[in-house]
Amino acid sequence: MLYFKHSALAKQYHVSLRTVHNWIDETKQGKLDLTLVDAGGKLYVANTAKNISLLTSLVENRRKYRNTKAVKNIYPKPEFYDLYSEAQIYDIVTNLEIHHEIPRQYSYMDQGAEHWDTYAIRLATERTANILNSTVKLLSISQHYLDELLAKYKKINIIDIGAGNAYPVRGFLDHLIKQNKMGRYIALDVSPDMLGIAKRNIHEWFGDAVKFESRICDINYDRFSDLLIQEYANENARDTVNVTLLLGGTLSNMRHPDGAFRVIHDSMGINDIFIYTYKLDTQTTRNYFDFSTDPSQIRLADIHRFVVDLLNIDESYYTVELGYDPRLQQRTEHLRLNVSLKLIFKFKAGIREVELNKGSSILTWRSHQQTAADIHRQIERNDFYILNSTQTDDCEYILSVAKVKSD
Ligand SMILES: C[S@@+](CC[C@H](N)C(=O)[O-])C[C@H]1O[C@@H](n2cnc3c(N)ncnc32)[C@H](O)[C@@H]1O
Repeated sequence: MLYFKHSALAKQYHVSLRTVHNWIDETKQGKLDLTLVDAGGKLYVANTAKNISLLTSLVENRRKYRNTKAVKNIYPKPEFYDLYSEAQIYDIVTNLEIHHEIPRQYSYMDQGAEHWDTYAIRLATERTANILNSTVKLLSISQHYLDELLAKYKKINIIDIGAGNAYPVRGFLDHLIKQNKMGRYIALDVSPDMLGIAKRNIHEWFGDAVKFESRICDINYDRFSDLLIQEYANENARDTVNVTLLLGGTLSNMRHPDGAFRVIHDSMGINDIFIYTYKLDTQTTRNYFDFSTDPSQIRLADIHRFVVDLLNIDESYYTVELGYDPRLQQRTEHLRLNVSLKLIFKFKAGIREVELNKGSSILTWRSHQQTAADIHRQIERNDFYILNSTQTDDCEYILSVAKVKSD
């Protein structure tokens, strides 16, 4: 590339578009020594080593000499330190520093779990199609196929990854109980509070017919194969199958979903079945941003604001921006900062400060927009073999059934 687009520079240096325009104006006035390129009558900053070095020192100096009164010092609330482990805080801080992002999984803790539960109940009762009621519909449509696939087994264990409030799996469990095939139900989730809600629901719906088991884990890193050893090696092994569910598009929010795919693949056995649901990329879904438990509110939705509020970033410091990034093929939600912030974090070993410039943004949510073909490629490149895929008639939701590829 011969020159940088203004938006690319703003993103790379975490500055506003106005700052980029100022750099160009100051260069024209002879105050800065940047090399500019004229493209179609518009001036851009040339992509040269000298320009990159100059911009880096400009941004550094700006940081050093910025009027400290213009920078808001932000101290996370005490609850932030009560709720997250030091390792999780480190993860949040480094993600803010490196990617200007709050990893989504931390939003489901404590009150965040209740917000998700309220939101999911709203989706479940809505008449229009959404990820929750479409997941339920796809599971129900696929039931006959799954019965055939699992016919030779007497017991079916369910491993529900990112279980949420367990609502989408309710009909499936009910069906297994009626067939007298219900084995273990194991909910895996990063949030102990979400697991608490799932446990309460499972107990309320099924009483003693389903014994709730759970584990707190981050599916990006934590394998779950040890949970399945007793099924793998006991005398009933041939009669039992494990079905791993990943429902509701949980991976779509992750920076690199393939990492979680690998963990899941490496945790599964040769006969185990994997069921995956996802909201697909269409022109309609690119514009879909319905996050609020109360859609009449125009503010950062409850299900996304939990960590932001714990960090103590006041609503007046940002504007919420929703959009589709065609380069990354992601829908995104950013907080565009109206003021410069210095976030001051306490660690056992000392203090770490993260500076975020006015005009820069924090990513609070992303969803990878993928077509059915993309989903199939993703499942296959992570060494699964696809047995079946079903879509809703609006082509917006998919359910894929797969098993691990064996040599
Ligand atoms: C989008 S909700 C989906 C819930 C449910 N499967 C559904 O379809 O309604 C995501 C769920 O996954 C959990 N979760 C998010 N990231 C996770 C991670 N990295 N590891 C484990 N669980 C995660 C959240 O706590 C939440 O319960």
